[in-house]
Amino acid sequence: MLKKITLENFKSHQLTELTLDDSRLHALVGQNSSGKTSVLQALHYLCLLANTPFSKVFQYERHPEHLTRITAESMSVTVNGFWGYQNPQYWEAAYRWQKISDKKSDSYWQPIASWKIDQDSENCQQGWSSSLKDAPYPISPALRYAVYLKLIANNLAKPALSEDIKPRVEYDGSGLAPTLDYLRDADPDNFEKLQEMLKRIVPGVEKVGFQLAKVTVNRQRTIKVDDQSSIPYQETQELMGKEVVLDMNSGERIPGHAISEGTMLTLGLLTVLMNPNQPNLVLLDDLEQGLHPYAQRELMNALKEIIADNPNLQIIFSTHSSYIVDELQPSQVHVLHNSQTGFTVAKRLDEHPDMEWAIESLMTGEFWDSVGEDWVRSSQ
Ligand SMILES: Nc1ncnc2c1ncn2[C@@H]1O[C@H](COP(=O)(O)OP(=O)(O)OP(=O)(O)O)[C@@H](O)[C@H]1O
Ligand SMILES: [Mg+2]
Repeated sequence: MLKKITLENFKSHQLTELTLDDSRLHALVGQNSSGKTSVLQALHYLCLLANTPFSKVFQYERHPEHLTRITAESMSVTVNGFWGYQNPQYWEAAYRWQKISDKKSDSYWQPIASWKIDQDSENCQQGWSSSLKDAPYPISPALRYAVYLKLIANNLAKPALSEDIKPRVEYDGSGLAPTLDYLRDADPDNFEKLQEMLKRIVPGVEKVGFQLAKVTVNRQRTIKVDDQSSIPYQETQELMGKEVVLDMNSGERIPGHAISEGTMLTLGLLTVLMNPNQPNLVLLDDLEQGLHPYAQRELMNALKEIIADNPNLQIIFSTHSSYIVDELQPSQVHVLHNSQTGFTVAKRLDEHPDMEWAIESLMTGEFWDSVGEDWVRSSQ
């Protein structure tokens, strides 16, 4: 479970500390460009480093020059957490970038991964081939099974086929049909539950089903020319996959591409959260996308039920919706704001001086609506 996130010089964050309460469901709110997505990205990179070296995680637009706050010469992202409830083990994992100015050569960025368990001293690895792979238990299970979802309704609707024994929905929403189909076989009770939740969030839905559909698969192949050389080519094959179809109150067996966007996004999210390969950390940007206020409230109820059923699951999401925030306690809401000089400042809503009396008469989202974000800046 993550307990504290510290960002130093990561994009607009000069020094941001977020302390997470014990609810395992945490919202990031604030105006556009206040740094919400950046928190999710910073965490996502840390989780990727649990499996993958710096050289793969940080390339192209993820290069340290684009991620480090302009003019800063170092950047770090540190997460503190614990693992296990009976005898919790406390851990810390971090990645840092340091700009090294060498007289002989141009300056360059040095990546460093570091970790700590309980009271032990810090271990670190540096260089592009380093990562958090060698970090001891429980850092790896705490970070490895994380997903950062950017679900796209079109991808969720596409027919798909999976060669994996346990398929999963990809971060962009592809692979929904085989994953749901697997859930139906492997855990029919959870499939039923998912269907019930979807029906509560989108009342027009009656039943989730599947149909066979053609899937175009591109495979990279090579032709051997002689003993020394071969020519690569792409082979396109049409294979039989599946697509999701929904029985709706407007008609039966409506294919995914004709289903409404909010319905598909909700189905995708519930599938990620309820399939047997469930991640233990889920990062979600703009949770309410495509959803009516009523559906937003029902989605929050569903998330709370899923969290209660799965003690290892933690969800961190960004939102602009006070309907979503209404369903949370103030300690679950992190308010981000831009300081006078442009960098991010953050406070938890329960740190607001008027919180105690306001919460007796206002819902959490109404309270946030009424106080806005300026107090975060003025109370620094
Ligand atoms: N390298 C950098 N140095 C300083 N600031 C940066 C850097 N890269 C990005 N930023 C700033 O950080 C902001 C990104 O914020 P982010 O995407 O996290 O905002 P957000 O709260 O998710 O906003 P929205 O609600 O619009 O999605 C950019 O708008 C930019 O101003
Ligand atoms: Mg954003």
